[in-house]
This record gives sequence, C-alpha cells and structure tokens, in this order.
Amino acid sequence: MNTLAVELNTILDENVAGRLLSSLGKRLYFPKGIIAQSAEAKKFAHRANATIGMAYEGGRPLILSAIAEGMPTLSALEAVAYAPTAGVETVRSAWKESICEKNPTLDPEGISLPVVVPGLTGGISYIADLFLDETTDILISDPSWDNYPLIFKDRRGSGVTEVPFFGKGTGLNLPAIREAIHRMAKTGKVRLILNFPNNPSGYSPTTAEAMELVNIIKEVAEKGADVLVICDDAYFGLAYEPEIYGESLFGPLSKLHERVLAVKIDGPTKEDYVWGLRMGFVTFGCKGMTQETYEALVKKLMGAIRSSVSCSNTPAQYFMLKTMADPRSKEEKARFKSMLQRRYQAVKQFLSSQGTHPVLQALPFNSGYFMCFVCTGVSAEEIRQKLLKEEGIGTIALGDRYLRFAFSSVEEHLIPETLNALYRVASSLAQSKKG
Ligand SMILES: Cc1ncc(COP(=O)(O)O)c(C=O)c1O
Repeated sequence: MNTLAVELNTILDENVAGRLLSSLGKRLYFPKGIIAQSAEAKKFAHRANATIGMAYEGGRPLILSAIAEGMPTLSALEAVAYAPTAGVETVRSAWKESICEKNPTLDPEGISLPVVVPGLTGGISYIADLFLDETTDILISDPSWDNYPLIFKDRRGSGVTEVPFFGKGTGLNLPAIREAIHRMAKTGKVRLILNFPNNPSGYSPTTAEAMELVNIIKEVAEKGADVLVICDDAYFGLAYEPEIYGESLFGPLSKLHERVLAVKIDGPTKEDYVWGLRMGFVTFGCKGMTQETYEALVKKLMGAIRSSVSCSNTPAQYFMLKTMADPRSKEEKARFKSMLQRRYQAVKQFLSSQGTHPVLQALPFNSGYFMCFVCTGVSAEEIRQKLLKEEGIGTIALGDRYLRFAFSSVEEHLIPETLNALYRVASSLAQSKKG
C-alpha cells in the first residue's frame, strides 16, 4: 500500500472513520505530485510558475473569445483555470457559512470544510468508494432514488438492504426503520443513507420523527456499533408544511456520538435551480473529531476525486460564489419555492377531492419535487405506458409498485387535469383486468 495511504490510515484508524473504510477507501491517498507541488508553487513561485498544465499570458489564462463572451461576468481565471482538487477555497468557505446559517444546530468548528464534487451524484459515488465494497451492506429507504442501487450495489459491489420507510400511517414507519438499524448493528457496523425531502415519495420527517431517527442511531452507537450516516440533502429547503423538521439531520448527527460519522451531501443542483451546473459538496461531521482527522478524511476524498475527474468545474464554482453573494438570490429563491409549493397544494387539493382509488394510493408527501403512488392490482409500468401513449403524459414507474409524479415540472393549472387522466387510466386498466 502507498505510504501516504498508510499515513492517512494511521490517523483515521483511531476513530470511527478508519473502522468504516472500504478496501478502496483504505488504499486511497492524495498524491504529493503535480497538484500538491503546484499548490506550493502558487504560494512561493514569485518569478515563474512552471508547474501546472495550463497556458498563461500576462498573468491570465489564455481564453477564446467565444468563451469569454459567453461568460461575461467571469474573469479568465474564473472561467477556464483548473480548480483545486477539493474546490475553490472561497467557495468552500461560503458554502460552509451558508449551511451553518440554514442549519443553526451545526457547529462550524465541529464539521469539516465542504469539498466540491461534480454534482451530488459524484459525492454519493465518492463516499461509496470510501466506505462500501463487497464486504459491506447499506440500508436505503424503500422507495428510494433508483441511482442508489446502481452506485452502491452494481458499481461498488456492496449489499443493499431496502427498509420499508412507509407503513399504513401518515408518516415514517419508525418501527421498521428501528428494527432494520438494530439488526444491522449486530454486525458491529451500520451504514445508511437518509434522503429528505425524499425522492420519490416527497416526504420529510416531522420534528418528532427526526428526533426519533436521531435517537435510534444514538441507541446503536451507544451499544458499540460504528455508524456511517449519509444525508443526501439534494432537495433541502423545499419544505411545505410547518411541522417538518426545518434542518438537515446532519446537524444533530454531526455531534451525536464518537461512533457516528455523518456525511452531508448537498449542493445547488435543486436548491439553487442549477441542475446542469454539475456541482455539489461533501461535508463530514462526527462528535469529537479533530480538524486533523477531518483533513485526513478530506485527503481520502481528494484521492477519489483526483483519480476520477481530477477536479470539479471552475466556472460553476464562481457562478455559485456570485449567486450566494447576490442580494437578489434570496427573494428569487423564495419566489421559485412558493411556485413549487402552489403546485404541491394543487396536488393535495386534487387528492382530497377524490375518494380512495382502487389502484393508486399516495405515499405521505409534504416537501420536495415529487409525490408517489403505490400501485395495487395494476403495474406502475403498465399505467405509465398507457398514460404516455394515450394521454401524452409522462410519469416515472419505479418497478411495478411505484409511480412517481414530479409536480415540480407540471404547471399549476395543468395539475388537476393531469392527475385526472392518471386516475382514469389506472381505473380503466383495473376494470379491463377484472373483465
Ligand atoms: C435524491 C437525489 N440525490 C442526488 C441527486 C443528484 O443530484 P446531482 O444532479 O447534483 O448529481 C438527485 C437527482 O435527481 C436526487 O434525486
């Protein structure tokens, strides 16, 4: 094993992070090669910097006119220079400040500096590199984003256990979640991913449910299990009901117990309506973890970044820096959110105007972009196909059981007729099965 990896492992082995590393996670390190040497040169090479593979003239990177004109608010450096492996320092600090502002429970001293990754998917995949392999298992919600099994199981070879997050009630199926976490804790290690607002259900926990989830994790840590909790906060902030816990679970989890390593994966993709910008952040939090240990963990993550995409997109980072500082952003985001909230309310209104449907039953939802139906008696895929071909309406079937409806992308005035068509199609398929 590389001696730099051994050095990092020596720091990490003393705590929960080291005990949870995958075989790839153990092998990863951040080389003291080109990137480290050019970072050193940036500080000290005052005569000439012949380190980095970029082309400069007059102290600025060369830039083609079409690119410069297409990004008029960015300097050449902001538009085309390589970004550091872990992201532009000012962007990382600004994001940290913004997540602490949005999550008052967070202690800025008690968490790492966020690392920039190319989108939340990249962040989830890198964390899977670090902590999952053929010898591990991870708990995911049922239903969940379909990319989780692809990343955790097919890409990393880890076992994936689906936990039925919703029962017959109006909220989370906490007994099932507790049972699954306690069962996995018997192996000595628990790995799980929590995604709220959830894709595809659109559910976020109430404050009481959030505290109970945190409590379940505390119980198993106190019994001696090492816990990795990944908080996928892709849809953070899009909460439409007052009883929803207003912060990320990363807040309380980041200071819960020495045996709980919390990882926050978030970013502007959905929060700031920049889906194609391909930018996200990974932040670590663990009670009692020192900044030296966080730096070792960040180096492991940098090894994963360096060995795959090398670094993230530079203009995206500067665009976000400007967006965070722009006084118009807050008001515009509030306006966009209230537009989504009206679409959410239109869906709620439609559902409450209808009786129970023979095929479609909505899972609890109160946030985010989506709501999701459980389909009984007719497969979700059959409904999706008929709705698409006969009514020209697109939805997402997740296996046979779930049909996801993204109210985020349907204009408010179209929601009643769209859902009406869905109800009609599902009923007619149920009728034809009977007949
Ligand atoms: C739950 C969840 N996590 C992560 C992502 C990925 O975000 P990004 O586009 O930044 O990779 C999505 C995107 O749909 C998502 O639904």
